[in-house]
Amino acid sequence: MAIDKRFIDLFINVTSKAAYASSFFIGKKDKIATDQAAVNSMRSELNKINMTGEVVIGEGTLDEAPMLYTGEILGTKKGPIFDIAVDPVEGTNFVANNLPGGIAVLAIGEKGNLFNAPETYMNKIATGKIDKGMIDLDYPLEKNIKNLSEFKNKDISSLNVCVLDRPRHKHIIDNLKDLEVNIKLITDGDVLGALYVSDPKYDVDMFLGIGGGPEGVIAACALDSFDCHFQGRFIFDKEKDISEAKSMGVTDLNKKYELKEIIKGDSLFCATGITNSEVLKGIVIEGNKFISETLITHKNSNFKKVVKSVNLINE
Ligand code: FBP
Repeated sequence: MAIDKRFIDLFINVTSKAAYASSFFIGKKDKIATDQAAVNSMRSELNKINMTGEVVIGEGTLDEAPMLYTGEILGTKKGPIFDIAVDPVEGTNFVANNLPGGIAVLAIGEKGNLFNAPETYMNKIATGKIDKGMIDLDYPLEKNIKNLSEFKNKDISSLNVCVLDRPRHKHIIDNLKDLEVNIKLITDGDVLGALYVSDPKYDVDMFLGIGGGPEGVIAACALDSFDCHFQGRFIFDKEKDISEAKSMGVTDLNKKYELKEIIKGDSLFCATGITNSEVLKGIVIEGNKFISETLITHKNSNFKKVVKSVNLINE
């Protein structure tokens, strides 16, 4: 069953309040406190919603995280059954250090339709809408770049590619440099990194590289509504991750997941700015109100919008 549109406002309220709670820790150099504030708020607000929501991507297993753990059931248990993926603060470094790009995020799918991602890294590639088979995680980088350049009718030297700045990406960055592609390096926050491909106004043609697997699933949820291309492959290089994946039902550890295998059916994605970014303004407190900006996508109603909300404090 599709997700009713009336949930849009309810979930905007959840990420807005989480972002507000976390905003008290902007620049406080405390990643744990900033995350905890958002977790507490998100959990308490989700519990008020008339739904049975199962956390499929959360803060970890029950013994690692008492709140928003994977498998936790949230909501009043009166209403539809949803899968929920939460990232209460995506970019904890950004918030702790008062840098642009901190967001509070959640994604909702219909029961059983949101991929239950293991807590491992994922190799990802994302672009805007392209023809099938044109860009692939398994093609050499040069082939993907040439194909995208032809498809977009843009010189290779005017393509922009977003990559997380990590030593593991040295070969990608060197390769892009040799190809004379423009590189947009981000220090954290690859949900926003992937989202840049969704709208030409961000001027990013491709996102690629290795980041968190859960973040990959959450980004895919938003990209689905924008009709973008996304593929991801989990990286299982530790015994613990391999056995966890197997217990989650992953049989092919090397599988490349297409977007439609990560998120099926209807979905909803909500991201509220904590600190400013190119996509969203951060939380602003004015007297007894706080103002938030939330990117919301709802697949079935084709609703994609940045919504500004004015919220009463202590309402
Ligand atoms: P947190 O907000 O949980 O700290 O994650 C930030 C982040 O940059 C993600 O966006 C990204 O997927 C992941 O960390 C990358 O992990 P690592 O820092 O280990 O390369």
